[in-house]
Amino acid sequence: MKTLSILAGMALAMAVPTVTMAQCDPGEIVAKMSVVTALQGHPKGETALALAERVNSKLDGKMCMEVYGNSELFTDADEMQALLDNEVQLLAPSLSKFEPYTSAFRIFDLPFLFDGAIAVLDYQNSVAGQELLGALDPSGLKGLGFWMNGMKQLSATRPLRLPKDAEGLTFRIQPSDVIEAQFGALGAETKRLAFSKVYDALASGEVQGQENTWSNIHTKKFYTVQDGVTESNHAYLGYLVVTNQEFMESLPEDVRNEFLLLFELTTHEYNRFAYEINEQRARDVWDETKNIISLTPEELGEWREAFQPVWEQFADDIGRDRIMLAQSFNAN
Ligand code: LMR
Repeated sequence: MKTLSILAGMALAMAVPTVTMAQCDPGEIVAKMSVVTALQGHPKGETALALAERVNSKLDGKMCMEVYGNSELFTDADEMQALLDNEVQLLAPSLSKFEPYTSAFRIFDLPFLFDGAIAVLDYQNSVAGQELLGALDPSGLKGLGFWMNGMKQLSATRPLRLPKDAEGLTFRIQPSDVIEAQFGALGAETKRLAFSKVYDALASGEVQGQENTWSNIHTKKFYTVQDGVTESNHAYLGYLVVTNQEFMESLPEDVRNEFLLLFELTTHEYNRFAYEINEQRARDVWDETKNIISLTPEELGEWREAFQPVWEQFADDIGRDRIMLAQSFNAN
């Protein structure tokens, strides 16, 4: 395996990683990872690159990992089928994109359930959270672990300070019934679009609003075609790294064990950086626009209240006990 090093330009208080693009040698097992987001300066992209660098160094001659970003290889629309067909071996779709396979991850879409990404991380690392990794087993997919992104922020072609400001607008959403209900509760319309289509849809007016994390809003420049971003932190967006069972089982035992160890170490280490990366991307949006809408506790209270019907609609389906357990990971 020959490597070509590129220095990732992350203005962060973390070690600047060296991004390694692998050129796989004959005889090496190739694991392609496809992500729809940016690579540099993005929680998922940086974690994927760090994992690839470690795999390519520690498993040199046995296994080789390639990372493709920005929907270059597959989009939301075709990546899951490509994984089942073993055209790609690793994906990290957002938890909201597993609806066709399981409703186990709906809990992560419930608005204002988690106070912040740290509570989500603690929940995911708990026994109950780790049990969720098995939710995809019946579909031939294998959940390896959760990767963090962060809390979502709202934006539209008009400033969103109160829930009523969203009424009548059409928001781009991920394919999740909970998210659809969330915007329905505001009297807004929704359109399910692949991530790769969001910027154009916002720029053309096909949709007027969106919700996403600071890292996605900044790296995909959504904020440049919106009138302000509201710091709502109203719900979580993060990932489940998945492979297909056939690929996992095809790996020689020593390679599989070493790969899984590297995966676990990288996940543990890089999940801690997601918060910091999102903070940096929020500062970038502020520096470039000076147009971030901060909400008062009263205004936030109005958003919470507006989303209450979503809880009523999905509490039984998600499970009231599960919701209470998840809430117990909030700090207060
Ligand atoms: C989205 O579609 O908005 C996100 O799931 C993209 C991502 O992978 O963060």
